[in-house]
Amino acid sequence: IASHLIACFFTELNRNQVQKVDQYLYHMRLSDETLLDISKRFRKEMEKGLGATTHPTASVKMLPTFVRSTPDGTEHGEFLALDLGGTNFRVLWVKVTDNGLQRVEMENQIYAIPEDIMRGSGTQLFDHIAECLANFMEKLQIKDKKLPLGFTFSFPCHQTKLDESFLVSWTKGFKSSGVEGKDIVDLIRKAIQRRGDFDIDIVAVVNDTVGTMMTCGYDDQNCEIGLIVGTGSNACYMEEMRHIDMVEGDEGRMCINMEWGAFGDDGALNDIRTEYDQEIDMGSLNPGKQLFEKMISGMYMGELVRLILVKMAKEELLFQGKLSPELLTTGSFETKDVSDIEEEKDGIEKARRVLVRLGMDPLQEDCVATRRVCQIVSTRSASLCAATLVAVLRRLKENKGEDRLRSTIGVDGSVYKKHPHFAKHLHKAVRRLVPDCDVRFLRSEDGSGKGAAMVTAVAYRLADQHRA
Ligand code: GLC
Repeated sequence: IASHLIACFFTELNRNQVQKVDQYLYHMRLSDETLLDISKRFRKEMEKGLGATTHPTASVKMLPTFVRSTPDGTEHGEFLALDLGGTNFRVLWVKVTDNGLQRVEMENQIYAIPEDIMRGSGTQLFDHIAECLANFMEKLQIKDKKLPLGFTFSFPCHQTKLDESFLVSWTKGFKSSGVEGKDIVDLIRKAIQRRGDFDIDIVAVVNDTVGTMMTCGYDDQNCEIGLIVGTGSNACYMEEMRHIDMVEGDEGRMCINMEWGAFGDDGALNDIRTEYDQEIDMGSLNPGKQLFEKMISGMYMGELVRLILVKMAKEELLFQGKLSPELLTTGSFETKDVSDIEEEKDGIEKARRVLVRLGMDPLQEDCVATRRVCQIVSTRSASLCAATLVAVLRRLKENKGEDRLRSTIGVDGSVYKKHPHFAKHLHKAVRRLVPDCDVRFLRSEDGSGKGAAMVTAVAYRLADQHRA
């Protein structure tokens, strides 16, 4: 009986804690009504970005990618790829064989990019990239071959063709000088020329969302959306050429890199942004920019939780009003911690361990509350992603004029793949908000790596067809 009473006491206590946090963060718990409203706002932003006269001032840029065709399974060849802008910088070798079974072989190597290079000069950054490429080719003994290369460069770029891509602005943790406004293909070519010890043929620059869509498109011909929820967040989809004012021609479709991370940069989300969102933004490398991304992605999720915990402690709602220097340190609470704490099993114990690591001496109720804060922040992130995705699905449905849309979304990114409940929340919310679409979510196996090679492979296939 005693243990039963204690258990009841704890359940009751936990319930109270959860209620307390829920009330405190009511502004972060978005109703379906609000999400549908956000979805509508995003739809307007999409149209603004696509229109010739509205594009220059649009915050969601809707950038043409010059990718017009998804893989058809007949692609083949040997390619190199670079992947910059996600959790790791990587160099890859990809071999696509077209033996009816659509096989892809791959070798890859992660290279570190020290922070001083991320925030140093552009020349330093591109010299470093060329050096890693040289090292990789040496290791694979392919330095004497002139292979075609696809570059996954996961930043907003104004593309004029597949192999000409001007960086609009750095996002996430990068801030290398003298690169914004420049063609990154030209920068990498020049860096390779400066070395003079190898040569490659740069065929395509691809956003990671596009790479993700392309790798999934290899397995599922219905794949027409690519989504990333990782360090940053963004999506691309196949738009009708007749709706893209920025590119000549009305036939067929082209993939649009939406750069949805910038949604809200014109104030469109001010009513749902909280004081924590504002604080994150003010302390970031790019204040006023990528406001939607800062509410969602892995680079900011842990920090959002930390800011909430600190505020609640200061108001004596948590930790008996006590704080530690570690908990007061920017970046000390990681997005990985959020994932651990939300684990079904032992989540409360994990919360305790994280808090102890941060120099705190938490009570059971503090751990319960911390876990609830994590749940609210990550659920908001998934809900917001759902709202924007829904706008894209509706758009595709209208474009096709179908009663029921069947569509596949290729997805990648550390938050989507590693958080224990994010994917489930996202899927549920999307299906609830667009009941008239049959949506399939397909996890991409290394979209940003293989994807660049896929785009390069498709470009080669199309070039072959032209020759034939
Ligand atoms: C940032 C970049 C975008 C990229 C996304 C995911 O939002 O601006 O290009 O797709 O992060 O990596």
